[in-house]
Amino acid sequence: MPTTTDKENASLQAAREVIEQIKKKPQSCLGLPTGRTPRALYRHLIAIAREEKVDLTGVRFFGLDEYIDVRQESAFKTYLNQSIYQPLAIDQNNCFSPIMIDDYDALIKRQGGLDLTILGIGGNGHIAFNEPRTPEFSWTHCVTLDESTRTANQEFFPSLDDVPRRAVTMGIQTILESRKIILLAFSKSKIAILNRAFNGSVEEAIPASFLTKHPNLEIYTDFEFTWLK
Ligand code: PGA
Repeated sequence: MPTTTDKENASLQAAREVIEQIKKKPQSCLGLPTGRTPRALYRHLIAIAREEKVDLTGVRFFGLDEYIDVRQESAFKTYLNQSIYQPLAIDQNNCFSPIMIDDYDALIKRQGGLDLTILGIGGNGHIAFNEPRTPEFSWTHCVTLDESTRTANQEFFPSLDDVPRRAVTMGIQTILESRKIILLAFSKSKIAILNRAFNGSVEEAIPASFLTKHPNLEIYTDFEFTWLK
């Protein structure tokens, strides 16, 4: 388990893991988050991929979640376009979003399954948009967002009223089926929830606690954290 207390360094290490995955399997399927947390990782990923001329033409990219009824400028697809797809000239045919198809899980399976999924964690313990009380055996589905989630994401919208109330998200099982997971938790505001998720009981109230069942999970933080297992 990586131990570091520096966000840049943690993001760089995580980016290297992603590059290693792609080099090992050029046809990799990656699950990608949005939000504040992965920004530095994407920056490092772009820099390494360019510097090392990594072939990305076979990689398939799957957004974890997407708002319903959102203006294009605030859509997660736009975030991913700007943060990673366009800078790396990724073919749009290899970029997927759960909003674009009825059965995202079947699509992921047809593409060979997720090899590596990157996650952040919400202040309420959500992963992707699986809010508290999401069943463990859930697949891609529509959700009503918690008010705490809408408030946390307000900065990406002109006002709180503009933050959508509904979204589509990969389910807990979609995520757990990924062969590898990298969880990023940056900022001291995530210490308490990370501890509850990993060192407390496994329960629907904290969706991230289901990650403790995954056999190949790495956690990157910018604070001291020990998973007691
Ligand atoms: P953040 O969100 O990266 O903007 O803190 C994390 C999440 O909600 O998964």
